[in-house]
Amino acid sequence: MRIIHSVAEFRAARAELPSLAFVPTMGNLHSGHIALATQAALHSPHVAASIFVNRLQFGPHEDFDRYPRTLAEDAAKLEEAGASLLFAPDEAEMYPQRQTYHVEPAAEHVSILEGEFRDGHFRGVATVVMKLLNIIQPTHALFGKKDYQQLMVLRNMVREFAMPLEVVAGETVRAEDGLALSSRNGYLTESERAEAPRLYATLQQIRDAVRSGATNFPQLESGAVEGLKASGWAPEYIRICRRSDLQPAHPDDPAPRVVLAAARLGATRLIDNLEI
Ligand code: PAJ
Repeated sequence: MRIIHSVAEFRAARAELPSLAFVPTMGNLHSGHIALATQAALHSPHVAASIFVNRLQFGPHEDFDRYPRTLAEDAAKLEEAGASLLFAPDEAEMYPQRQTYHVEPAAEHVSILEGEFRDGHFRGVATVVMKLLNIIQPTHALFGKKDYQQLMVLRNMVREFAMPLEVVAGETVRAEDGLALSSRNGYLTESERAEAPRLYATLQQIRDAVRSGATNFPQLESGAVEGLKASGWAPEYIRICRRSDLQPAHPDDPAPRVVLAAARLGATRLIDNLEI
């Protein structure tokens, strides 16, 4: 696997390849990221990943500075998964001058859920992903359902800007106890880590209730919020939404649904979701 730090060098390598499947990441890779790299190989014999902790998508009080940076271990994992290129620019390479042009996602897609609690987050994500896609020029780009709203925003960006690539979604990879893998799980203390699977268990309870005919969605949502609070969590939202645009689901609308949640456990903010 070639590790490339410069845009010019990446473009030269890319020019040799007829197709390229791409997995953008912020590093500190776990089996969820690696599953995306493995899935990418189904779409092209050439797989590229990127590692770049993107300042633009972090709020002023978020964890940009303490976000784990583990390039050597990450490169070994990607190589083992069969990636042939790793783009790992530093900040000066990605942002040689202050980024003054931005991609502004649709207000109705970013004023809800994560967007309610992370002002400007998706603008930062869409801007860096647009930039990465322009550098990497992949034929396929893979994103995890773990970040369900991010996947929806990026799918819409690629469609609305007629970008010449296919967006591919990967299923959420979980620990044996159900906790969705995340680089932020490393922030949890031992006792918080033991408590953390409750978030997914709560989503499963909602799914089971909906499957057995429950139709009062607001009541299910507020019951779940209270349950988490009683176990020491600080929930931000738990919402049953339409998968396509993440607007609130109505019990008499048969369109496919997903339940999404964000909650703080101690100092750590966890998100998860489940298609129901
Ligand atoms: P990061 O959090 O590193 O995630 C990189 C990719 O891995 C995303 O598509 C994310 O949805 C996926 N992923 C994370 N945890 C996963 C899990 N448990 N199972 C399956 N996939 C998982 O998401 C970002 O980085 C950034 O916002 C980025 C798109 C790179 C832009 O900076």
